[in-house]
Amino acid sequence: MTYTDTPIIELTHLTKRYGDHQVLTDLSLTVQPGIHALLGPNGAGKTTLIDILTTLRPHDSGTARVLDLDLRTAGADVRRRISVTGQFATVDEVLTGTENLTMMGRLIGLSHRAARRRADELLDRFDLTAAAGRRASAYSGGMRRRLDLAVSLIWPPEVLFLDEPTTGLDAQSRLGLWQQIRELAESGTNVFLTTQYLAEADALADEVSVLHHGRIVARGSAAELKERVGGAVLTLFDDGVVVEEIPTDGSAHDIARLTAAIAADRPNLVVELRRPTLDDAFLQLTGHTTRQEAA
Ligand SMILES: Nc1ncnc2c1ncn2[C@@H]1O[C@H](COP(=O)(O)OP(=O)(O)OP(=O)(O)O)[C@@H](O)[C@H]1O
Ligand SMILES: [Mg+2]
Repeated sequence: MTYTDTPIIELTHLTKRYGDHQVLTDLSLTVQPGIHALLGPNGAGKTTLIDILTTLRPHDSGTARVLDLDLRTAGADVRRRISVTGQFATVDEVLTGTENLTMMGRLIGLSHRAARRRADELLDRFDLTAAAGRRASAYSGGMRRRLDLAVSLIWPPEVLFLDEPTTGLDAQSRLGLWQQIRELAESGTNVFLTTQYLAEADALADEVSVLHHGRIVARGSAAELKERVGGAVLTLFDDGVVVEEIPTDGSAHDIARLTAAIAADRPNLVVELRRPTLDDAFLQLTGHTTRQEAA
């Protein structure tokens, strides 16, 4: 597998509605090879888009191409070349890790021996060898997520879709999964992932697009998105508690003007300057914080 020069995904004027609920609106997006993160809060339309891109749902209008194939006319070809790990675990809880993987291998047509060999490779790669003989119902959340990922890699895909791969995992499991995703990308698999975590997009993705109410409201590298917010954020503390965060363009002029106004008005506040985060970018781009949106 190698990265190609053509985009892995090309969407133009894509729309999708459920009844009279418009979920994706005039969505145009070109995704280059590498890791792409689609960042959006609850209900933004992430899973809907993943379902469309993986041929699980049809779109209403517009065009969608994956690996230069039209989803409407070449869905079966697309399915052969991609894989997906959905938002919710799909492993069979009654089966062991080995059995889950071997069964999937048999389903895609591997011989029993080949399926077993592939299962062992994947169990090793995802640090599940010690738990291989245990039922998936006895796995922790992080182990299940890794088994899910392993299942979707039985046959190496050219594009792997991951819908919120680390939601609900503790910090350590999340870091472990990030490393696995990076290694996959380094070995040549293109990854299109969705996330609600700004830090996840920042840590993993070559490019980020921000989905908000079914529209792409921003795209670029995490660094570019942060830059749009300006050079620095002025944080005001009162007795150690944050009372306000003010975006600035980072210039001495802007910061001096603001701090002079603060000094005249509330001279006891403590001022700190920090680099903008993707959270700041989200607020700037959509007028909402991700937390307000989720609430
Ligand atoms: N099958 C469906 N029928 C009707 N409405 C739906 C259906 N699936 C999703 N929706 C609605 O479409 C919108 C987008 O849902 P979607 O699941 O794509 O969002 P999401 O970004 O994946 O959210 P989350 O972060 O919670 O997983 C939501 O308002 C949701 O309620
Ligand atoms: Mg979802």
